[in-house]
Amino acid sequence: RQRSYSVGSTFDFNAHLFPLSASASDPLYLSLDPTTNRGHSQNLEKQKSITYLNGLSLVVGLQIGSGIFSSPAQVNSNAGSPGAALLIWLLSGILAWTGASSYAELGGAIPLSGGAQAYLQHIFGDLSAFLFAWVAVVVMRPGSAAIISIIAGEYLGSVFWGSLTEDADPPPQLAVKALALAGMWMITILNCLSTKAGTRMGDVFLLIKLISLMAITIIGIVVAITGFSVKPGGPSMEWKMGNWFEGSSKDPGAYAVALYAGLWAFDGWDNVNYITGEMKNPTRDLPRVIHSAMPLVISCYLLANVSYFFVLPSSVIASSTTVAVRFGTTVFGSVGGILFALAVSISCLGALNATTFTSGRLVYVAGKQGYLPKIFGRLGIRSVSNSVSTPTTIRVPIFGTSYTRTPIFAMLLNAFLTSFFVIIGSFEALIAFYGVAGYSFYFLTVLGLIILRYREPGLERPYRCWIVTPIVFCCVSLFLVSRGVFGAPIQTGGVIIFVMVGVVVFWVRVGPPKVVKRALGKLRFWKKGRKEEGWSAVGEARP
Ligand code: ARG
Repeated sequence: RQRSYSVGSTFDFNAHLFPLSASASDPLYLSLDPTTNRGHSQNLEKQKSITYLNGLSLVVGLQIGSGIFSSPAQVNSNAGSPGAALLIWLLSGILAWTGASSYAELGGAIPLSGGAQAYLQHIFGDLSAFLFAWVAVVVMRPGSAAIISIIAGEYLGSVFWGSLTEDADPPPQLAVKALALAGMWMITILNCLSTKAGTRMGDVFLLIKLISLMAITIIGIVVAITGFSVKPGGPSMEWKMGNWFEGSSKDPGAYAVALYAGLWAFDGWDNVNYITGEMKNPTRDLPRVIHSAMPLVISCYLLANVSYFFVLPSSVIASSTTVAVRFGTTVFGSVGGILFALAVSISCLGALNATTFTSGRLVYVAGKQGYLPKIFGRLGIRSVSNSVSTPTTIRVPIFGTSYTRTPIFAMLLNAFLTSFFVIIGSFEALIAFYGVAGYSFYFLTVLGLIILRYREPGLERPYRCWIVTPIVFCCVSLFLVSRGVFGAPIQTGGVIIFVMVGVVVFWVRVGPPKVVKRALGKLRFWKKGRKEEGWSAVGEARP
C-alpha cells in the first residue's frame, strides 16, 4: 500500500483550510513528492538552514542535561558495584544508539519534520500520528522540559541558598520552582525572538557542558594518579583496592531500574528528527549526526563515571543525587561545589534550549498537519513581503533588520504547558509517565521501520541500518514498557486514559471510524469525501 501525502501535493489542505498560513512561503513547510516519494521544499532551499553542526548541537545538547550529573546514584545503587554500573552506562548508550540508528533510517526515507509523527503517519496512518502528537505535545515534551527545568532550579537554588553540602537544608520549593520557570521562560523568549539566538545560545551552553565533563575526566585522572585534593580528608582511594565487580546486584529488576536511569541520561537522541525538513542535507547529515553524537556522548559519560569512582567512595555515589557537586567539593572545597552546581544548571538550561527548539517545531508541524488548531502552524511576527500583494514586514527592533520567522505560537503553547507541569507536577510521576508513554511510541515507531522494510521494499532509503538494530531496540523498549506498567500502574493508567481521550478528540475532529459510523447510522457529512483524501477532505467537508 503506497500512501502518498496529501499535503501540498495532490491536495493542499493547508492552503484550502488555512489560507492565511501561506504554506508555500513557509520555511518549515515540506511535502513529499508523490512521484518520487522524496521530500522537497517548496522553493525554499535557502531557508533549509540546519547544518550538520547545528544538528549535532541539538542532539548532544539535549542528551547531556541532568542525567550524567544526577543519575549515577540510581545506576550505582541498583547495579551494586562500580563495574556493573559502568556496564549499565555502556549498555544504555548502545541501546540508545540502536534507537537513534533506526530513527536515522526513518528520517532518511521520510525526510519530513515532526519526527515520529511523520513516520507514524506514513506507516500506520493519521490516528497513530495524531495520538503521538497529542501525547508528545501535551505531556511528554513539556513534561520532560519541566523535569529538566526543575533540576536546573534545584542546582541554582542551592547555589543561592548556600545549601550545597549534603546535610544542609534544601532550598525552599517555591524558590526552586520560580527559578525553574524563570530559566525556562528566558529560553523560550529568546527562541521566539530569533532562531539564530536560540541555536547560538545552545552552542555556548553545549561548549560549557563539554568543558565541564572534560574537566571532570581530567580532574579524575589527576586525582587518581597523584591523590591531589584541596579538601582535607581527600578523595577516596577505594578504587585502588579491590574488585570493581564486587557486590554486583543479582536482581534483574534492579538492573532494569538502573537501565531506565541510564537511558534517561542518553534520551534526546531523536531530537534532530523533529527538524529533518529544515536540514540542508538531511539524507547525508542525519545519519552523520547520529553516528557522531552517540559515540561522543557515550565516551563522555563513561569517562565521567570512571572519574566519579576515582574521587568518591562508591557508597557516596550510590546515595548522592548531586554527584557532580560532591565531586567538586571533595576536590576543591566549597568553591568547587559552587562551580559544579553552576555547570550542572547550565547543562540543564542547554538541554532545555535544545528541547524547546524542537518542541516548537513539533507543535508547529502538528498545527500544519491539522492535528492542532491552525494558529500553532503559523510563524510569528514575520515578513510576508515576498508575496507581491502584501508588502508589510514587521520588524523586531532589537534584532535590527530581521523579523522572527519562528513558530512563536507553538513555542508559547509548549512553554505554558511546561509551566503547568513545573507548578503542579510531581517529579516521580512525570518521569514514570514519560518512561511508559515515551517507550511505547519509540517501540511503535521502530516496529514501523521493520514493517516498512517488508511493505515498501522499494522505498528509497539513503541510510539503512542493520536489521538487528531495530529488533534489539523493539525488544528492549517492550521490556521497559512492561516493567513500567507493573512498576508504575497509576501512571500507566494515566497514559492509557490520556491516549483514549486522544482517540475521542481525533474522532471529534475527523469523524468516527467506519464501524462506529455504520453503527450510528448514516451521518452524511462525515461520509462525504472521506474516502480518498483522508484527513484533509474531511476537514473540508465539515460544515
Ligand atoms: N538526557 C537528558 C538529561 O539527561 C534528558 C532528555 C529528556 N528528553 C527529552 N526529549 N526532553 O537530562
